[in-house]
Order: sequence, then structure tokens, then C-alpha cells
Amino acid sequence: MTVLEGARERRVHTGGIELCVAELGESGRPTVVLVHGYPDSKEVWSEVAPRLAERFHVVLYDVRGHGRSTAPRPLRGGFTLEKLTDDFLAVIDAVSPDRPVHVVGHDWGSVQSWEFVTVRRTEGRIASFTSMSGPSLDHFGHWIDGRLKRPTPRRVGQLLGQGAKSWYVYALHTPVLPELAWRGPLGKRWPRILERVEKVPGGDYPTSSLPRDAAHGAWLYRDNVRARLRRPRPDAHAHAPVQLITPLDDAFLSERLYDDLDRWVPRLTRRTIPAKHWIPRTRPDQLTAWITEFVRTVEDGGPEKVKPTGRYADRFGGQLVLVTGAGSGIGRATAFAFAEAGARVVAVDRDAEAAARTAELSRLIGAPEAWAETVDVSDEQAMEKLADKVAAEYGVVDVLVNNAGIGLGGSFLDTTPEDWRKVLDVNLWGVIHGCRLFGRQMAERGQGGHIVNTASAAAYQPSRALPAYSTSKAAVLMLSECLRAELAGQGIGVSAICPGFVNTNITSTARFAGVDAEEEKRRQKRTARLYGLRNYPPEKVADAILKAVVRNQAVVPVTPEARGARLLSRLAPRALRAIARLEPPL
Ligand SMILES: NC(=O)c1ccc[n+]([C@@H]2O[C@H](COP(=O)([O-])OP(=O)(O)OC[C@H]3O[C@@H](n4cnc5c(N)ncnc54)[C@H](O)[C@@H]3O)[C@@H](O)[C@H]2O)c1
Repeated sequence: MTVLEGARERRVHTGGIELCVAELGESGRPTVVLVHGYPDSKEVWSEVAPRLAERFHVVLYDVRGHGRSTAPRPLRGGFTLEKLTDDFLAVIDAVSPDRPVHVVGHDWGSVQSWEFVTVRRTEGRIASFTSMSGPSLDHFGHWIDGRLKRPTPRRVGQLLGQGAKSWYVYALHTPVLPELAWRGPLGKRWPRILERVEKVPGGDYPTSSLPRDAAHGAWLYRDNVRARLRRPRPDAHAHAPVQLITPLDDAFLSERLYDDLDRWVPRLTRRTIPAKHWIPRTRPDQLTAWITEFVRTVEDGGPEKVKPTGRYADRFGGQLVLVTGAGSGIGRATAFAFAEAGARVVAVDRDAEAAARTAELSRLIGAPEAWAETVDVSDEQAMEKLADKVAAEYGVVDVLVNNAGIGLGGSFLDTTPEDWRKVLDVNLWGVIHGCRLFGRQMAERGQGGHIVNTASAAAYQPSRALPAYSTSKAAVLMLSECLRAELAGQGIGVSAICPGFVNTNITSTARFAGVDAEEEKRRQKRTARLYGLRNYPPEKVADAILKAVVRNQAVVPVTPEARGARLLSRLAPRALRAIARLEPPL
């Protein structure tokens, strides 16, 4: 039984083999062909295919010897890249005879698709290729050659690193053993291994054909790997634009393998994703977004447009990012930085006009889509409504930035319960609501994500000038650390950002306890002047926020004074306590 609900099936005959081909979506639309890897069948795409079928004509087939396609006889010599290319051509002749197709390959599906996109006989038949976790054997051969010929310590390290990850390739070259292992304990335990080690959700994985598929698939390695690595083709240049998606925690392939790829691919788009090897099953939303964007851009004319701009475009393109307090300062700069990286942005602020402006500019800067939402983050019900609306209309958020915050100065004895409530409601409760509502959606989706909370250097630097504000930020820091521990197992990172003095509007809106309105105005002006003199731009904090997500950093002090205070808080807390006693300069 297929798990691809609603798929239309047909059999395609080629070179004595019968291939099982499934189609979804309207056939008049651009055709996307999904090629599975080892040891899989086309069902590995069961999460991605229906999502893509909303916009494209999606075609999947069981590679020869796998799933419900027949196997060659004899097996030896039946799985060469030439024969796999014959199969591919037979499939596209059947499903899209007049229009080039967009190929997407994972693992061995990607290895063979590299062959398709670099041999002459498919020229003009492939519009684009999206590759995941499966290099070209020719490029790999040249990569090894290059490192053997000029063995610097770094290059030898790269060789050894990939060598250690390739243990299974050597194992698969041994005769009979792999077949026995797959028919025996490995075959039985495979779904559990995928679930535990690779974090692939269990359930509908079709295991019945697994031992046979895996035993056949061993010939993919035996028929091709040694021969190609020894004598890689010198002219293996891609004749279509390529999108390379690299999972950063792939146990089988090193990222370094793709260092030289620009040499072979004139029109290359790189993407990275913090995930393990089986991304078609663990990250279907992100893959669908990237494939959709890539295919559309190629269809709309021009691979030139495919390359996203912005420093982190390879990571955030197409992702859904929600920023609170996005109407001004750090939040606005953060929304813009994500927009530049090609993310879809939801700008949230209690100031409707400011949020709308940020959304509008985000679109101009590079966000494919951007929306403004007017919400007070301290309002529990409003935040619940926002979370429901975002999930229903825009999707599950990939990156959440809980940034909205307000300032409050003045001594503890001057701070009224009402003052406390205001600052804790926004600075702490706002963050709690965000984490609780959007964090749950991320966890339930099961495809990872990241939460950034804007704390402050005040979180670890005591001062007699800001007791309430500092307390709220210390709570945000600890909340972030606890949540980070809780969500780590689900691939969701949590970062606390701790800036020092940043030149934003916060100084002119900050409240001061225990003084009259006139004195408050005077202090606001004075602080604004001091922060202006310091002049640390919010854009730098935004950059640190994106970097924190990319590197999954726990606590990020930004600005030299914030880094210094962090160091003192650990090495010389007494010194920090002494500084805390100094009369504030306001
Ligand atoms: N500026 C600094 O020196 C500095 C230093 C450390 C930490 N921070 C923190 O950075 C974050 C951003 O501050 P900023 O400096 O960019 O300030 P800012 O005043 O320029 O921007 C804050 C934005 O948050 C919005 N906001 C305030 N309360 C809100 C609420 N209840 N609901 C929704 N939106 C709300 C405001 O309308 C404003 O657009 C805050 O959490 C702040 O505490 C700032």
C-alpha cells in the first residue's frame, strides 16, 4: 500500500525493468520529480510531496530494485549511473515529454540526479536540480584527488573527517554481509534507529520492502562508487541551476565536501539547515518552501534572480520569523536583517503604524512576504489570538524573537507596585506568552525552530539605578536557559541576547520612578544624550541575533561593556557589586 494518499500511479517500462511511478497535483503545472535515496522508497517524500502538489505537478518513482519497481537480473551491473539515467529519462518521457522538469534528490537520489544534470543526453530536459545529502561521485572524486595532491594539514583533516563518516560505504562494498544484516537485525531495528538516532518520526514508515530494498541498494554503491572515485569524469559541469541544501548535523556527509562546488555549478544557490540526514521526513515545511521558491524563480526567468542576498540568506530564506517590538530600535533592525536574508517576516508591535512601516520596508528590502500585527505582548488573550492567527494564516513560526520591552529607572524604594507590574508585564510576561504559545506550536510541529529572547546586560549586572528592569531581564535570562534545556531534544534552540547601551528610542520612553513629570523628561533627555554619545547601532544587535540563531548560542552579550560585565560577573563578582553601588550618572 502506498502512503501517498490520492496519488495516481502508472508503470513505466525501461530496459527490462518496470518502474512504479506516482503523480500528484495538476499535470499542466511545472513538474517536480522527487528521487529517493538509500535505503528508502518513494514514500520518503510522503510529507513533502503533498505540500508541493498544492502548486506543482509532483512525480515520484521507486528507483529500480526498490519499493514496487522491479529489480534488474543479474543485480551486479544492473545499478550503474548510466542505467539509472535511462530510468529517469523514461519517467520524464512519460510524465513531461515536452517541458523540462525540476529534479529534487535526497541521498542516493541526489547522487544519481547529479549524474542526470551533468551528462549531455539530459541537456534541455532538466530545468533545475535541488540536491540534499548526496554529492556527485565525480565531484567527490576530484575533491579527494585535490586533497591527496596538495595535502595541507587542514585538507588532510577534511579527508579524514569524511573518511570516518563513510564507514557504511566500505561496509556496503563487502559481499553478502550487508544483505544478511538487512534481512536480520538491522532490518528489524531500522525504524527504531531512524526514530531514536535520526529523530525521524515513526508511524507510517513502510518497512515491508525494506530488507529487499536495502539489499538491492547495496549494488548502487558496488556498481558505482569505487569506479567513479578512481576515475571521476573531468567535464561533470551542471547544465541547469542547482540548489544545494546541506543539513549541518549529517552523520554521513561533511559540509566541507561542497567547498569546491562553485567550480562545477555556474548557477549555485546554497542553503543550510540545522538538522540530521533525513530532512525530507524531519523538515518538510522548510524543504517545501525552498523548493517552491527555487522552482518559481527559475520558471519566472532567470537563474540570476535565484541567488538570495544578505549574509545569512543560505539559512533563513523562506523561513517564517516573528519579531515583537518590531516597530523601533533593535526589533526593527532585526526584522530588516531577517528580511534581507529572504525570510518571511511578521512584525508585531503595540504601535500599529510603526509595525506597518517595518513590514512595508521589510518587503522592499527582500522579504518575500511581510505582515504587521498590532498586539500588546503583555495581554495574554491578545497574544493567544495572535498565535492562532499566525498559525492559521502564515504557518508555524521558524524563528521567534521576543524583543518588546520597556525601560524603568529609579531606586527600589521609589518603585511602586504599579511600576513593578508594568515592567514585569511587558518584559517578563510578554516573553512568557511568546515562548508558551509559539514554542508549543514549534514543538508540536516537530520540525525544530529557534526562540530568541532579548534580555540585557542588566540581567547579570546589578545596579542601584535599575532594580525592576534588571530583575525582569534576569528572569528572562533564566527562563531562556531553562527553556533551552527543555526544548533541546526537539531541535528547538533558545538564545538570550544581552546588549549593553544601544542607541534606540528606549531612552525617550523609559519611565523613572519616584520623580515628577518634569524631572522624568529631564532624565529621559539626559539618558538619550548619553546613549547617543555611546552610539552603538541596533543593527549590530540584529546581526548578533541572526548569528546566535545560526550558531545556536545560549547567552550572547553584545557591546564591549556587556561582554566585560559578563566576564566580571563570573570572574570577579565583587567588583561588579562595587560598581553597582556607585551613584547613577542620571
Ligand atoms: N536600547 C538598549 O540599550 C537596550 C539594552 C539592552 C536591552 N534592550 C532591550 O531590547 C529590547 C528592544 O528595545 P529597544 O532598545 O529597541 O527599544 P525601542 O523603544 O526602540 O523599541 C521597543 C519597541 O517595543 C514596542 N513595545 C513596547 N512595549 C510593547 C508591548 N507591550 N507590546 C508590543 N510592543 C511593545 C515599542 O512600541 C517599540 O516599538 C527591549 O526588550 C529592551 O529592554 C535594550
